[in-house]
Amino acid sequence: MKYAGKKGLVAKALEEIVNLSAEEKKAVGKKINEAKQEIQTKIAELQDKLSGAPSATALDRFVKTLPGKKPMAGHLHIISQAIEEIVEIFKPLGFTRVRYPEIDWEYFAFETLNIPATHPARDEWETFFIDAAADKQYGRQVITPHTSNGQVREMLKGELPIRMLSISRCGRRQEDVNHLQTFFQFEGLAVDKGISITHLKGTLDYFVKHFFGPGRQIRLRPYDFRFTEPSFEIDINCDLCRGEGCKFCKGGWTELGGAGMVHPNVLKAGKIDPNVYTGFAFGWGVERTYMMKSGTKIDDIRYLLNNDLRFLEQF
Ligand code: FA5
Repeated sequence: MKYAGKKGLVAKALEEIVNLSAEEKKAVGKKINEAKQEIQTKIAELQDKLSGAPSATALDRFVKTLPGKKPMAGHLHIISQAIEEIVEIFKPLGFTRVRYPEIDWEYFAFETLNIPATHPARDEWETFFIDAAADKQYGRQVITPHTSNGQVREMLKGELPIRMLSISRCGRRQEDVNHLQTFFQFEGLAVDKGISITHLKGTLDYFVKHFFGPGRQIRLRPYDFRFTEPSFEIDINCDLCRGEGCKFCKGGWTELGGAGMVHPNVLKAGKIDPNVYTGFAFGWGVERTYMMKSGTKIDDIRYLLNNDLRFLEQF
């Protein structure tokens, strides 16, 4: 105010300029104008600082050619990347991705899959039950412990033949180096006339070759799933120790998932005649499958959900 106000020093100097000669007026007028300009610039800078917003003067001073700061670019989480890759591999075989409830009735998660009420998987300490009233026909609600709940749901659509790929989140109570409480499974189901075990074996071989590349071995172990007969567990030679045995695998082999020929009772529950149609099914863990991809070298499944950017940015 002392300099720039109405009664400030600049205004006073301009008033007194009339007493000067023409030549002096020119020289002194120029100096006063320069001072005025400088004062206005300083005032604008002060205003910028106080308000935080750039004034017209500040924008005039903005150097347009200065390179800007790059915004951080994200990418899909590795579980999503794995899911996309799995979907693309199964597409040429005619498998279409579908989604079924991640909270479902016992009826679809167990009952229709030939898993009786007395089965250990249905114990309170094995499966997460929802604290809500049970339904007379469908039983209690559960966080689906596997994607197999989609099998009978898909059959009940009444569209044959079936080539389903159901990928969803599952929940179980374990958590350790190769178990998560929340994980993903991908479930394949094929139902048609004349489907045999060779189709199942061929489909799994095709997937393994495309996902893991050449040079990896899988083995089928006989197993007892209530909803397939015969049933198998499928293991791959561990990529972390290349078969030597490590903290992640069982003696050099890592279990990826289960598979088998659809049990006739399951077909019946899906209103499909087992005398006319047969089928195969498989359900594998997405995280374990991704971890066994050659070269990923992830030795603890829990890293996948820690959301540590230093880990995630490597993939
Ligand atoms: C099943 O869940 C069967 N429903 C699979 C199946 C489908 C068999 C269709 C036959 C026909 P299992 O409990 O073995 O099977 O789990 C399959 C795979 O899911 C495991 O091999 C593993 O890769 C993954 N998985 C299971 N539990 C966990 C967990 N807690 N954390 C991470 N992955 C898991």
